[in-house]
Amino acid sequence: MTETQGTLTPVLTANWADDRSWTLSSYAARGGYDALDKALGMSPDEVITMVKDSGLRGRGGAGFPTGMKWSFIPQDNPNPKYLVVNADESEPGTCKDIPLMMASPHTLVEGVIISSYAIRANRAFIYVRGEVLHVVRRLQAAVAEAYAAGHLGTDIHGSGYDLDLVIHAGAGAYICGEETALLDSLEGRRGQPRLRPPFPAVAGLYASPTVINNAESIASVPSIVANGAEWFAGMGTEKSNGFGIFSLSGHVNRPGQYEAPLGITLRQLLELAGGVRVAPTGQARELKFWTPGGSSTPLFTAEHLDVPLDFESVGAAGSMLGTRALQIFDETVCVVRAVLRWTEFYKHESCGKCTPCREGTWWLVQVLTRLEKGQGSPEDLDLLLDQCDNILGRSFCALGDGATSPITSSIKYFRDEYLAHLEQGGCPFDPARSTLFE
Ligand code: NAI
Ligand code: SF4
Repeated sequence: MTETQGTLTPVLTANWADDRSWTLSSYAARGGYDALDKALGMSPDEVITMVKDSGLRGRGGAGFPTGMKWSFIPQDNPNPKYLVVNADESEPGTCKDIPLMMASPHTLVEGVIISSYAIRANRAFIYVRGEVLHVVRRLQAAVAEAYAAGHLGTDIHGSGYDLDLVIHAGAGAYICGEETALLDSLEGRRGQPRLRPPFPAVAGLYASPTVINNAESIASVPSIVANGAEWFAGMGTEKSNGFGIFSLSGHVNRPGQYEAPLGITLRQLLELAGGVRVAPTGQARELKFWTPGGSSTPLFTAEHLDVPLDFESVGAAGSMLGTRALQIFDETVCVVRAVLRWTEFYKHESCGKCTPCREGTWWLVQVLTRLEKGQGSPEDLDLLLDQCDNILGRSFCALGDGATSPITSSIKYFRDEYLAHLEQGGCPFDPARSTLFE
């Protein structure tokens, strides 16, 4: 760990409070697009090496090394190469890419140009959630500004390099955040996952070599080019380098985005965010459970407050870093009810392509619903675990696996609470006291 551990490291968020931070003039006043100049003075391979050496890992959840992904693009393939930014942020609790694109769209646009140059792509796409029209408009305005200033189009900065960037709005399906479903959707088809391999790096958009990276990953690239690989690698932990945006939501006094080195703990973040929210009566409340990386990652409890939030440590503690969507739930929340809500979401968003997920999520909701009403039996807990066992690892994509995480982890930590529903014939929590699920 570095000495920056426990403190905020605003890089992507540094300009968010600037006057009209989303405009080109505001971005340029802080040296915006200088990194692009620097990158264009390097060879594409040198840029890839720099990103590799920085240790940047995918910020969309899986943490795959970004530079390595870029190096998989087969340059001897005669097809065009594409860069696709996955900005279809939909994981419950995740709210980092949308604020980033609203506050500083040019950080992403500059990252797109540098990354496309590195992989020798002349056409790039940013795939944004269709529901967030304001983000789509903001990106479109930034792209128009970038074209007018010569950062996009032909002969960028007099380098001879050409790039066109298209903003594409999705139609509001969670599954289209899965990278191959996103490609299907971008090609104009119904978004459903494709079999991998081949990975998109080999056969992606229009069966051509395609790099797909999360918006935050690509937005991190200009700062790496500007400050160097060592600067980035000097933050975070040994294997989880750099900084990331942690989104704190739920029962916390100051919810929002906190940019910090990977390896920071929830205890440290909660201190920065003013702690667990107090009751309207002024009474302090206790942390009950939380998600380290959105609802697809197994739940943590108060005993995990000091787990370093990096890929390795969170994995060793039984969960996944995911999207760093830290949803905080205090003692007033019924975990069974929260888990039921998430499971209903997965059931609704299941694309229906494979049986374990399509049928399994439906059955999970049935069993959870009767348990939450206190109408099930203790055997239903084993039934739920058995259903999860038949979904996890047997589904076609990560959505099915993710649906099981809140269930298995909540039974592991809160079995008694499930049983209390049965003993009392209903939810033992007073809904009037629960502030999140009214
Ligand atoms: P994955 O681990 O299968 O792949 C991660 C990336 O590495 C992909 O881009 C993949 O193409 C690439 N990759 C992996 N192995 C490769 C190989 N051998 N050759 C070339 N490329 C390779 O993870 P997946 O299924 O793409 O994503 C799951 C993650 O998505 C979860 O960890 C979850 O946290 C996150 N997620 C994020 C959401 C959001 O809103 N940001 C929504 C839902 C899930
Ligand atoms: Fe579709 Fe679910 Fe199967 Fe993924 S796991 S392919 S979302 S049905």
